[in-house]
Amino acid sequence: RTPLLIDTDPGVDDALAILMAHAHAEVVALTIAAGNVGLAHTVRNACTLVDLLSARTPVHAGCPLPLVRAPLEDAAFVHGQDGLGDVGFPEPASRPADETAALALIQLTRQRPGELTLVALAPLTNLALAVRLDPELPSRVRRLVVMGGAVTGHGNTGTVPAEFNVGFDPEAAHVVFEAFTHFTLVDWEATLRHAFDEDAFDGWVARGDERARFFDRIFAAARAYNRRSGRRGIIAADALAMAVAIDPAIVTRRASRHVAVELDGRLTRGATVVDWDGRLGRPANAEIVLEVDQARFAALVQRALGVPGA
Ligand code: BDR
Ligand code: CA
Repeated sequence: RTPLLIDTDPGVDDALAILMAHAHAEVVALTIAAGNVGLAHTVRNACTLVDLLSARTPVHAGCPLPLVRAPLEDAAFVHGQDGLGDVGFPEPASRPADETAALALIQLTRQRPGELTLVALAPLTNLALAVRLDPELPSRVRRLVVMGGAVTGHGNTGTVPAEFNVGFDPEAAHVVFEAFTHFTLVDWEATLRHAFDEDAFDGWVARGDERARFFDRIFAAARAYNRRSGRRGIIAADALAMAVAIDPAIVTRRASRHVAVELDGRLTRGATVVDWDGRLGRPANAEIVLEVDQARFAALVQRALGVPGA
């Protein structure tokens, strides 16, 4: 089983990704970012998920704010005020560990150099702090998979071309994209191309176990929001990134390019600028995922929801 270190801001699609990770991989730790909602909620939600899974995964609380500027907005309008669809779960029994997220990222990669796949499903604040404190960190990571960006400018929050995870903390994304010479990028536009059919998804949920029921409850508000926004299908960005982390061979079409982050533009702060034609003369840092095998992606999700025979 692939050992994963997951930086996350749960978040309903983060929650699905965390279910997938526990079903298919070894989850070394969850490091928690602020993003979809405030850090107190994202930490609590991670603990709720650890309880649901009867797991012992350590949860490390991270940085409560972006590195430089206050964010334009959070994503409570998608994920609910509490980040898990405002279902009203009780206080979790699991508690966060003492170590802060950035230090946990440093220490865990020191304990297992070259072994861990880092999966970044949130604004990149914790990882940026970690690589600033320890510039050798990227060389100890087996692989970095980032859910973030909008590679041709079709963003989803903040400025028009910004995707949420990059737009929430552009300086952090800049630090990470410069520090890692090679990472896998699963962007928002790829997410939109890999939505699940709603009826098929409802069938999985009906046949799944308590994980499916849990996900169905937390996803209801986000689903309603997507419908109101005119989007069809079940859209789960972090689940797609997690599928690529668990099963790299799932990728059927990719492009290696240099990706940078716009930090200043009045209309474009937080945009990911992809040098499609190599005009900057800089080496490619990102392997951009363009297409995955949708049936394999579906099977990973179904098994994580406990669908029999999946
Ligand atoms: C990303 O932003 C968050 O709202 C989701 O959890 C995902 O990580 C999608 O843009
Ligand atoms: Ca997320």
